[in-house]
Parts: sequence; structure tokens; C-alpha cells
Amino acid sequence: MPAPEIALTERFQSAFAAAFGPEFADADPIIRPSQFADFQCNAAMGLAKRLGRKPRDIAADILAAVDLSDMAETPEIAGPGFLNIRLRTDWVAAQAAELAADARLGVPSPERAETVVLDYSAPNVAKEMHVGHLRTTVVGDSIARTLEKLGHTVVRQNHIGDWGTPFGMLIEHLLEVGEDSAEAELLTTDPNAFYQAARGKFDASEAAADGESGFAARARRRVATLQSGDAESLRIWTHLVGLSKEYFHRIYEMLDVTLTDEDLAGESTYNDQLETTCTDLEAAGIARISDGALCVFPEGFTGRDEQPLPLIIRKSDGGYGYATTDLTAIRHRVRDLGADRIAYVVGTAQELHFRMVFATAREAGWLPDEVEATHVKIGSVLGEDGKILRTRSGASLRLMALLEEAVAKARTVIDELRPDLSDEEREQIAHAIGIGGVKYADLSTAHDSDYTFDLDRMLALTGNTAPYLQYAVARIRSIGRRAETAGVTAAAAPLVVNDAERALALQLLEFGPVLASVGAEYEPHRLCAYLFSLAQAFTAFYDASPILKEDDAEVRAGRLALAQLAERVLVEGLDALGVEAPQQM
Ligand code: ARG
Repeated sequence: MPAPEIALTERFQSAFAAAFGPEFADADPIIRPSQFADFQCNAAMGLAKRLGRKPRDIAADILAAVDLSDMAETPEIAGPGFLNIRLRTDWVAAQAAELAADARLGVPSPERAETVVLDYSAPNVAKEMHVGHLRTTVVGDSIARTLEKLGHTVVRQNHIGDWGTPFGMLIEHLLEVGEDSAEAELLTTDPNAFYQAARGKFDASEAAADGESGFAARARRRVATLQSGDAESLRIWTHLVGLSKEYFHRIYEMLDVTLTDEDLAGESTYNDQLETTCTDLEAAGIARISDGALCVFPEGFTGRDEQPLPLIIRKSDGGYGYATTDLTAIRHRVRDLGADRIAYVVGTAQELHFRMVFATAREAGWLPDEVEATHVKIGSVLGEDGKILRTRSGASLRLMALLEEAVAKARTVIDELRPDLSDEEREQIAHAIGIGGVKYADLSTAHDSDYTFDLDRMLALTGNTAPYLQYAVARIRSIGRRAETAGVTAAAAPLVVNDAERALALQLLEFGPVLASVGAEYEPHRLCAYLFSLAQAFTAFYDASPILKEDDAEVRAGRLALAQLAERVLVEGLDALGVEAPQQM
């Protein structure tokens, strides 16, 4: 059951081949939604250029060659050569019937299922998990769910920051406060506070120049002993990381994201391969020593002074960095995980890092041309002042507190809306709205734009918000419950006759193509925009076409079927976003 654009594209391409020759069989008919009809074919202008003829004549030739009789009225030529297409309502109805019978709701099965390695969330141990990580988590999880619905295999890789120099001071601090102390508890409740305390000690010790027995010196020595594999250091490190993992899990659970322990593949995972990465790159002539550090100078990257830009893979003190780990990880993902595609859902600030890592990995042959690597750039979350979101005291926000606030706010909304429901029911709905609202606000903004964190807007029942969509679903479910009580059953095929039914059916047919494009382009906001217009089309339909109040039993059953198809698509779409749809609201 191809969606209209796809069916139209096929018909027009055969017309091109018939009218202008087989070499035109692939020309894009440029089918777009139109305000004057359902769709427009905008190909005549481009073809006219190619053929050296007038666009309107080309349009006339296309019209003579194209056979749409079963699916559309005869197209009209408009303006310089647009073809306006109005679909036949019986054709739309037949497609809607097929859609209703399709368990996949029109979502195409891939020609070849791909393995997609998806790197997302990636917070840092004992460091602020801030709203930025909230966004990489939420956007990444939606992409993972979408790709799985499209029939691909997703390998989630949570590349947490669990290695590197800060661990010296973190371990020393943990030892000082005691592994079972209240201070240590912070690692699972407010890791940033733990980190700040360790940092504070380190800075004070440095300022006091308190010598070899001072905290700063001990922290530095601890980095070295940890990296040399000292058992006691590793044990404390493992404990530290374990506490942070617990914290991540609490957040993930609160957020209803699909990440589990299995998906953890932090920086430390690659530790024992970092040296090989360096020696292999050096042996291949890709890396060389510059100012004492081992560097790669991938082609096409220059700094301000037009000098080649280095990607440092081994510092002059022998330490490895973030880039070394990412190069090692990319090699593993292609060679061992069998990636056909790799996507990194990470902040925009790391753009240059990823471009250089990808370029180096390509040069090294670790990332073959046929494997696509994409940095899905994540913009910033801003406060009302237009700056990166922080608390009033200027500290970074406690993510859990923020989520709890969202749920509490949603609770006041639902308390007002549904005082008749039980406490437990309202609690559940508040969770769905609060968390769904926050996630949806993230997802409905293009991932690379910044947006302002505004709980009131996120939880509003109107506009492009989760609660608006959740409410649309709850409304249909309530119709379903009332229908059941009244003994009304839905017809097998949705009724598509009047304009509002037709408009809703046309929207429903777009679900598959929209989901496919989200999976290909990593753009969940397109799914949000689609679901929003779908919910609007449902509202317009329900305003215009009564369901249970309709006297004609056949019409009633057909409209109920249409409404329930809308419910299925909305729920499936929200599920791809990771947003829960409550039974009632
Ligand atoms: N931990 C890093 C950060 O918080 C993000 C890691 C992203 N993934 C990667 N493979 N580099 O900025």
C-alpha cells in the first residue's frame, strides 16, 4: 500500500519514459503537497530545461502520457507548468482500508536490514549529567526506537566518560570521605556535587602548594597508578563507576529510555587497545610526532594560521586522549560490531572532533567508504535568559530534580482535569505527561537548534506538545470505551467520504514515509511535526463527523474504524519518540 507520493512518483516516471524516452525513467517528478489540490507535480520546469522546450508544453505531454485514472481526477495544468492532482476519494478509501489491515501501519520493510551502531547519552562518571545529556539521551533513544521499527538492528553504545585524569582526584576524594559515607552517596543522587567537592579540594591544594603529601600531588600519582593497572586503584575506580551507573539508571528509568547495562561501552572499554591504535597509525605513516606528541594531521583541516590541524592521539607525557578512544571505538564498531552505519548523538560543540576522527578513520581504512558515519549534532538547552540552563545560583541543574518538577507540575494539570480519577491513576498520568512533555520538547525542536527550557509550554494542552497528542489519543480511547459499552463495533475498513475523513485518511497514509525519513536522516522533529498535524486532522474530523451520535450504523462503524486507525498511528508514532500514551486524560 504505497503512500500517495510514492504511487504518484511511479506513475509519473513511467509517463516520463513513455513521453521523453527511457533515459527519463528516473527523473524526479517532484511530487509535493499542494494548497490548491492534494499534490502537485513540479517536474515540467526541470524537464523543459533538459529538453529545451516550453514547460507548459512539457506539462501537456506528461498529462497525455500519465495514467492516473484509477487514483486521481485528471490533473490540471497551472502557472508555468505545475500539474495539480486531486486524488479520488475511493482510491484514498481503498488505501486506508489496506493501512488498517497492515500490522506495520504502512512502515516499509527495508530492502536490506542494516546494523546501525548508535552512540548516545554518554554522560560522564561523577560529573554533571546536565540537560545537554538529557537531550542526547532522548534524541538518541528516539532514533534507536525508530530504526528498530523500520526493521534495522540497532547496537546501542553508551560511551560514558569513565576514564581519564579526573579519576585521580575522584578516587582520592572517595578514599578520604570513605566509600560508605554520606558524601559517597552523592554519586548516586547528585554526582555533580561529588565532583565539585573533589575539584574544590584539588584547586585548594594547588593554591596552597602543599607539596608531595598534598591532595593535588596524591591525585596526580593516583592517575598514574590507576593507568598502570594497580589493583587497589582499579577496585576503588570500579566502585566509583558503579555508583554513577546506578545514578544513570535512575535517570534512564525515570525517562523511560531503552538503555540498559548491556549498552554501556564507556571510554575505559578501549583502554588496552589505545597503544595499538597509536602504533598502527604511526606504522601506516598516518600519525607522526610533533612537539613531542603523536599527532594525526587529517587532510583538509587547517587552523587559523593555515597550518595543518593536529588530532593528538598520544600526549607528550604518554597519556591518551578522547580522540584516541574514539578512533579505537570506531575501528571496533566497524570490524567487530559490523556497523553499516554509525551515528553519534553528541553536542554541536564536538563537531570538529568528529570530523577529524572520521577523516582519520577513513585514511586508516578503519571506516570504509560504504559505512556511513554521522554526527547528529545536538544544540543547547537554554534558560529564560537565553543562556545555557543553570540554577539560580549558577550551578548546573540537577537533572533528577528537574524531571521531578516536571512530573509534579503535570500532576497539578491532571488533578485539575480529572479529579474523578484515583490517586494512583493520576500519578501514572502525571508521569506520562511530565516526562513525555519534557522529552517531546526536546524532540520537536530540530536537534541542532537551541531551545528554551520552559515547563509551562512543555506541559500545555494546546500546541505542538506531548500533552496535546496524548490528549488526542485519550479522547479516541474514551470513544472506544463508550462504543464498547454501547455495543458498537468498528467496521473493518475506515469510512472515507467527507472532506474531513478524507483529510485525516491522507494524513494517516503518510506515517510510513515519515518514519522512514526519520530513520534515514535522524530527524525526530519531523515525526513530531507529522503527529501534530495528524492530531489536528483528527480533531477537525471529530468536530465535523460525529461518531457515536451518528444514526446511520454503517457510517458510525466506519468512522469508529477511522478514529481507531488514527489512534494506532498516534500511539505507534509516540512510541517511536519514546513518549507514553495514557489510557485516559
Ligand atoms: N562523554 C562525552 C561528553 O559528555 C560524550 C561522548 C560522546 N561519544 C563519543 N563517542 N565521543 O561530552
